Amino acid sequence: MPRVKFLPLKREVEIRNGETLFKAARVNGIPLGSSCRGDCVCGWCRVEVVEGMENLSSPEECEKKLMASGNYGKHERVACSTRVFGDVSITTGYW
Ligand code: FES
Repeated sequence: MPRVKFLPLKREVEIRNGETLFKAARVNGIPLGSSCRGDCVCGWCRVEVVEGMENLSSPEECEKKLMASGNYGKHERVACSTRVFGDVSITTGYW
């Protein structure tokens, strides 16, 4: 089962294979921005991937639109649209 590290909170959790980063955070009580409740609309759940980008799903169409309109960096993803298939470390600007 994949492990997700939330930096710099120093929290690490184990999740189901294919679970989203958004659910991994929410289920474990880690605050993550959202106004659309994980429907890939608001872009508030933006996270920076520090390690393990290769273990994440490819961006879906809704995520591609948010990434283009929000000037995402190449290490940033929309957490509610990103599924995890291996170990990963992420952070945000507000943790
Ligand atoms: S929670 Fe709104 S885009 Fe992810």
